[in-house]
Amino acid sequence: MKILVTGITGQLGHDVMKVLAARGHEAIGASRKEFSLTDFDAARAFVENAKPDAIIHCAAYTAVDKAEDEKDQCMIVNGGATRNLAAVARDIGAKFVYISTDYVFPGIGEEAYDVDAPKGPTNAYGLSKLAGEEAVQELLEKYFIVRISWVFGINGKNFIKTMLKLAETHDKLTVVDDQIGSPTYTADLAELLVDMVETDKYGVYHATNEGFCSWADFAKEIFRQAGKNVTVTPVPSSAYPTKATRPKNSRMSKASLDRAGFHHLPTWQDALSRYLRELEA
Ligand SMILES: NC(=O)c1ccc[n+]([C@@H]2O[C@H](COP(=O)([O-])OP(=O)(O)OC[C@H]3O[C@@H](n4cnc5c(N)ncnc54)[C@H](OP(=O)(O)O)[C@@H]3O)[C@@H](O)[C@H]2O)c1
Repeated sequence: MKILVTGITGQLGHDVMKVLAARGHEAIGASRKEFSLTDFDAARAFVENAKPDAIIHCAAYTAVDKAEDEKDQCMIVNGGATRNLAAVARDIGAKFVYISTDYVFPGIGEEAYDVDAPKGPTNAYGLSKLAGEEAVQELLEKYFIVRISWVFGINGKNFIKTMLKLAETHDKLTVVDDQIGSPTYTADLAELLVDMVETDKYGVYHATNEGFCSWADFAKEIFRQAGKNVTVTPVPSSAYPTKATRPKNSRMSKASLDRAGFHHLPTWQDALSRYLRELEA
């Protein structure tokens, strides 16, 4: 298949390109050099010219706290530009993969959210990603909406890299323990996204690595596996006020993966150990 990938300078886009090449697909990577998402005409012209069979849309405005000060910019990129690309996909008959987030949910309670649970974003980034989902569902039939959370990959900034950097100068850290969710390793997710796009099992999916943890649990496991002697003291979110509110409950159910016959991603601990090896290599 000929597959166009946006956001190839980011964590996920980078790994999707690798998997497409390994599986023998014709991958067309789009970064800002090819077009800015907010230049709707340039984006349309590029995609129409490439005429892909599918678009895997990994690019997004991802600065969650900055988004509170740049609500319009965030909405244009995640909502408006997604609508624009979805419209082109419809016009050329391409499948469309939209990557979304746990932040579309209100994050209350302790149950895992099913794909069609009521939405209720609590921050500007979540609102913009939900606008992207709505545009995709409104315009397209051949779409995959794949919600993920707590992303880490080789090509970009993430929590694991931050913890390892802090371990160089600290032997004690306080980390939030009242937000519960699941890490997502982009190398694992990229395989599943390509599995999906090779099928016509369209729909909405949750695709994090398996298992739930708090950020404090995650940090402890990072230091344990990396052999770093850092003591983690769990603290509530109120100890780390941020511009954007984070959901306390980011648990997401994988039932829709099961219904479609897609495999679950490995556990987050297993993903972490492979990621640490990837960082070393
Ligand atoms: N990171 C997370 O924890 C997380 C959690 C849930 C969902 N997600 C979603 O997962 C997807 C992948 O995330 P990620 O962590 O791989 O993101 P990332 O590393 O922050 O990369 C974002 C990508 O989007 C591109 N981009 C941003 N604005 C653009 C614009 N106006 N025009 C063209 N390109 C633009 C960036 O290009 P430049 O390099 O040129 O800036 C970069 O390639 C996104 O849809 C994100 O919303 C992420």
